[in-house]
Amino acid sequence: MLDRLTPQPPDKIIEMIAMFREDPRTDKVDLGVGVYKDEAGNTPVMRCVKAAEKRLLEAQTSKSYVGLLGDLGFVDAMRDLVLGDAVPADRVSGAQAPGGTGAIRQLLELIKLSNPDATVWYSEPTWPNHPAMVKHLGLNAKTYRYFDAATCEVDTEGMLADLAGVARDDVVILHGCCHNPTGANPDAATWNAITDLLLEKGATPFIDIAYQGFGDGLQEDAANVRAMAARVPQMFIAASCSKNFGLYRDRVGVALTIMGDPSQMSLVKGAMSSLNRLNFSFPPDHGAKVVEIILNDAELRADWQAELEEMRLRMLTLRADMADALKRETNSDRFEFFRHHRGMFSLLGLSNEAVLKLREENGIYIVGGSRVNVAGLPADKIDHLAKAIAAVA
Ligand code: LMR
Repeated sequence: MLDRLTPQPPDKIIEMIAMFREDPRTDKVDLGVGVYKDEAGNTPVMRCVKAAEKRLLEAQTSKSYVGLLGDLGFVDAMRDLVLGDAVPADRVSGAQAPGGTGAIRQLLELIKLSNPDATVWYSEPTWPNHPAMVKHLGLNAKTYRYFDAATCEVDTEGMLADLAGVARDDVVILHGCCHNPTGANPDAATWNAITDLLLEKGATPFIDIAYQGFGDGLQEDAANVRAMAARVPQMFIAASCSKNFGLYRDRVGVALTIMGDPSQMSLVKGAMSSLNRLNFSFPPDHGAKVVEIILNDAELRADWQAELEEMRLRMLTLRADMADALKRETNSDRFEFFRHHRGMFSLLGLSNEAVLKLREENGIYIVGGSRVNVAGLPADKIDHLAKAIAAVA
């Protein structure tokens, strides 16, 4: 049987982890996978996570199953974190999922269960796992223009023109904040225009929010999602705790479904329970419990917000320093976008040859398409990186 197995395409981000590990050069620089690194180049466990884990260790008396939808205290806390009071709680159904990826996958499965012929739109470019999962599930895929490669800003006109082609019941994936891979984000007026379009066409937004708190602030990063949620009858939201709680390997995420009518609650909950059961039964508890403890404890929550804010401000400083260095090295404003892009990534607008050259000649690893992990920029190597980038740009 296995002789019929064909090689599966590797994910270009995950592939980079192994390539970097195998590179023997000591001066290599990893700007690949989206993992936050501090000044020392480490990805530390956040203070509040350590404290919550200690409490959990003391208090936990059983490792028995929790429930197919996971820890509902975590689900409610995440609903509030993402949505605030934009939508009444009786219109939001939530299910815990293994990471943001798990949440996206479970929601795509819910879409497929509701409408096997659904068409799912995503930005071009987007996080490579979006198209991979949509296609794997056999859903119809369509792309909308998003990025102007000449300016490295959002192609607002192209985006709205393409989204004008959505049909009733189509699903449109949008990055809630901190677009991955580009770092370019639509402004509030564009979000409003997208909402108008989706309402007019009867299409449903699907928000992937994996970097809340990494862009302009915890509340600011959710503002456009909340404004849209307050206006649309239906919405899917996949939220991840990998980055803003630093819980990457613990796989903590939530899949939220906003319903037009609260009477659909038991149907949606039943479908999400069934899909969880079919795919993995019970979502992993540990990380979700930790997040629940943090979000429901005033002291831990304040410390979390303070540390998250330090991380965000550090990324902004790295952005400014890199933009200054690129300005010096290129003697131009070509890379000014690096300063005001938001989130963990920026797409530099370099050719694939340039990306390859940086890797092969300089040991600088950035993802194909020229995505740089801003949080991976070592402060003491910024000049070196800017020189290398200017040489291939
Ligand atoms: C990334 O885009 O690098 C992160 O979201 C990690 C991943 O799973 O791809």
